Order: sequence, then C-alpha cells, then structure tokens
Amino acid sequence: EKGEYRHFMEKEIHEQPDSVQHTLSHYLDFVNGRVKPGEIDFAAVDRIQIVACGTAFYAGQIGRYAFERLAGLPCDVEIASEFRYRNPAVAPGTLAVAVSQSGETADTLASLSWCKANGLKTAALVNVHSSSMAREALVVWPTHAGPEIGVASTKAFTAQVAALLALAVTAGVQRGRIDPLIEGELVKALFEAPRLIAEAVQMDGALRGVAHELSKATDVLFLGRGAMFPLAMEGALKLKEISYIHAEGYAAGELKHGPIALVDELTPIVALAPLDEVFEKTASNLQEVAARGGPVIMIAPKAAPDPHGAGISRIDAPDCHPLIAPLVYAIPVQLLAYYTAVEKGTDVDQPRNLAKSVTVE
Ligand code: M6R
Repeated sequence: EKGEYRHFMEKEIHEQPDSVQHTLSHYLDFVNGRVKPGEIDFAAVDRIQIVACGTAFYAGQIGRYAFERLAGLPCDVEIASEFRYRNPAVAPGTLAVAVSQSGETADTLASLSWCKANGLKTAALVNVHSSSMAREALVVWPTHAGPEIGVASTKAFTAQVAALLALAVTAGVQRGRIDPLIEGELVKALFEAPRLIAEAVQMDGALRGVAHELSKATDVLFLGRGAMFPLAMEGALKLKEISYIHAEGYAAGELKHGPIALVDELTPIVALAPLDEVFEKTASNLQEVAARGGPVIMIAPKAAPDPHGAGISRIDAPDCHPLIAPLVYAIPVQLLAYYTAVEKGTDVDQPRNLAKSVTVE
C-alpha cells in the first residue's frame, strides 16, 4: 500500500532511515560500538570479486572503495553479464559476492554458480532471503529493505551500500587494519546514517526547483570522485529509467578527457561533492565546466567552500562522515530523478520497457 504517498518510489525513498538502520543492525553491535563477527573470516580471504547488474553493480563499486581502503582487501567489481562469458581468471582465495535485490537476476545467478563451480567461496548479498542466489551461495548476507515495489531501486540500493560498508569495517577489523578505537569511530559514523538520511529526505524543497530545470533538458551529467563516482552513475541510471532523459555519470577527473566537449548551457551538471579529501579536486573540475557555460548544481554540505565561477548553484546536503556519504547523498540523487519524472508525468513505478526482476538474459 502506498498510504500517503503518490508512488511506491516516493514511499520507498522515505523508508530508507528504517531500512538502513535495520540492515546495519544485522552487521553491527551499536550498543558496544563493535562489528559483529559473521560466517566469513576476512583474514582468510585474499581477494573479493563482486558480480552484479544495474543498481546493484553501482552498490558493489561503492563497496569496493571501502574494502580496499578500510581492509586493504583487493576487490574487483564486474557486470555479471560480462563476467559470466569471458572465462575470468580468478585466483584461489577469492571470495565471490553476488549483490542483488531480488536474488533472481539471471546473469548474476549464473556468475555466482560459475564461481562456486570453480571452487570459490561464495556469498549472496540479497534482499530476498529465500531467493535462488541465497540458496546457491555458501553464505547469505541479508539486506533488510523489505519488499521493494518500484521498478527503480532505491531502498534496496542503500541497504546494499550499508551492508557493504559494515562488512568492509568488519574486514578491516579482522585483518588487523582497524584498531578498536577506529572501529568504535566507524561504527558510530554508520550509526548516524539513518538520522542523516532522514535529514536528507527533507531536502525536497530545493530539489524540486532543480528537477524542474532537469525536466527541460535532454542530457544531464552527474559527476563525483571516489565513492561519489559510482553514485553519479547510479544517479544517471535513475534519471534515465524513470524520466527517460539521457544522463551519464562520470568520474569528475575524467571529464577533460572527452565528455567536457558535451558541456553547453543546455546540459545541467549535477555534482556530488561531500567535504572529503578530494573535495578541492572536484571543485576545480566544476570551475572548468562552469567556465564553459555549463549550469552546475553542486550538492555539498554548507561548510564546503564555494568554488569560484559563475553558474554554480548549490544545494545544501547534511554534513556527514565521508564513510557514509554514499548513503546520505543517495537521497538527493533519488529525489532528483523522482521529482523530474513527476514533472514529466512519466509512469514512475512502472517505467516503459523495464521489469522489476530480469530473470532471463
Ligand atoms: O534484483 P537485482 O538487484 O539483481 O536487479 C539488478 C538490476 O536489474 C536492477 O538494479 C535495475 O538496474 C534497477 N531497475 C535499477 O533501478
């Protein structure tokens, strides 16, 4: 039931403080500020290979940044439809992780089976706990997003990201990379996520105005660095899916290697710019696009300095620990797509040509 909401997608966006909280509680002991040991001993894992499709693939890419940074654990992420047919060379000691809301996506399931058949340990990060992937994998890592009805994934995505961030902290602890003091700090940062997500959901006023501008565009660029890069691609996918506007997500530093040629006054550029160690780099990329007449919308915390340059408008995001920025910034990204689609009058919950679960290849 949609209750007070116009669409399931809107309802599911608003459910995210709860779904993230519920998911994190599975992996973290908030009372004692510790990770919960799970069935996988990350000290015995040499590499991680994530396989996934669509939004789950972007969640996997965000996870990769965390596994490498926090746990020093090499991590590859690949689109399942490519992985399954290219005879990948996977090292023994690799933990294969399928990320999927439904647990039924044909290519992801086939990739998981391939990994299992090739002797790898397997884990399934799934929202449907009785799904084919959950049955196929050695270990099930649940997300607790609850049933997701909207075809465009929202709360399943943030639940996947939350679980991967928590697991990366767990891996860091088990591999001796994170001492108890830092563990406490990171668990506390994750504990703050639901509250900050709830704050981000309140950003809707400013975002409606931007959505009005986006609804008139034929192309939109999303930019980010670090974990904001996969989130930029997720933002572009969300906009494409439900508003049918062409959009691309780019690593902000890659722009000058080609895509900046697309920039003109009709192409809005949405920049995801939390105050992290690469903020200054992103800001200077934004000056470059603004100087070429691109209307830039920078989503950043109030405390972030203003990049010099005309044409840069700002949307204030909640201030947050860099670890949880992908969770907090996912909200404005989803709301932008949602309001743009509403403005265009498209069928938000059932976009054309799309199915909720892609069980054939
Ligand atoms: O059920 P899955 O997570 O395996 O589905 C993967 C993709 O089909 C899915 O994320 C798709 O990209 C969504 N429509 C994105 O909003």
